[in-house]
Amino acid sequence: MNLPERSAQFPQQIESMFGAIAPRYDFLNRVLSFGQDIYWRKKAVAVLAPSKDGCYLDVATGTADLAIEIAKCRVRKVYGVDFCIPMLNLGMNKVKRKNRKDDIAFIAGCGEALPFADNLFDGTSVAFGLRNFSSPENGLKEMIRILKPKGRIVVLEFSMPENIFLKWIYKSYFDIILPIFGRMVSKHDSAYKYLPESVSHFPQRKEFAEMMEFAGFKQVGFQNLTFGIVTLYTGVKNDC
Ligand SMILES: C[S@@+](CC[C@H](N)C(=O)[O-])C[C@H]1O[C@@H](n2cnc3c(N)ncnc32)[C@H](O)[C@@H]1O
Repeated sequence: MNLPERSAQFPQQIESMFGAIAPRYDFLNRVLSFGQDIYWRKKAVAVLAPSKDGCYLDVATGTADLAIEIAKCRVRKVYGVDFCIPMLNLGMNKVKRKNRKDDIAFIAGCGEALPFADNLFDGTSVAFGLRNFSSPENGLKEMIRILKPKGRIVVLEFSMPENIFLKWIYKSYFDIILPIFGRMVSKHDSAYKYLPESVSHFPQRKEFAEMMEFAGFKQVGFQNLTFGIVTLYTGVKNDC
């Protein structure tokens, strides 16, 4: 699949792609990232710095790994939103297995029209989700809308390493090995071809940070994780 046009059908294409790969999603995440995805989510939660009595929203929560990581901070409640029911079902089962049923609630919904009132959450997160939105800008605007003043956002997204040699290794792995292995395991023809394509089209570092500022976030910053193959972004909603 070429990067789908961001047409009216784009959300349905994305939803059905994640529905198809859902059963192998977690396994492929661990294997293809060599276990780094666990570290990336832990770093994101450290930057989010959830407070014990706070309410948090994980957008595009998928199988809930980031929501679970936030819940470990003993916050009041974590809500996970995603429009892909098979991913949410896997997330719900995982949450039950981990005895976190009372800590995390799941809502089927679109990240570009969040089913929440304004100024509700102490913090919000999105990991590897915004890249798949029809409009990442609208996703960010929704996230700032539902945040309380002074609330924090964290975003994890893939990026290209800046070092030329690492970039070459990364591109060989991402463009050649990952699509072959991903296809073999997930049995999906194009999902793991779409992954590197969508990353190469997504704004990187400064450009994405500017998008966050344009959405209204202040104190926007970012840091490279694992040689820059992932970037962790953060920002704050103004208190006025
Ligand atoms: C790559 S997975 C990431 C899942 C999870 N955040 C993680 O870290 O493993 C992307 C998820 O975003 C969801 N998604 C993509 N676009 C969405 C949208 N517009 N609204 C809600 N969920 C969306 C997909 O259904 C999928 O579960």
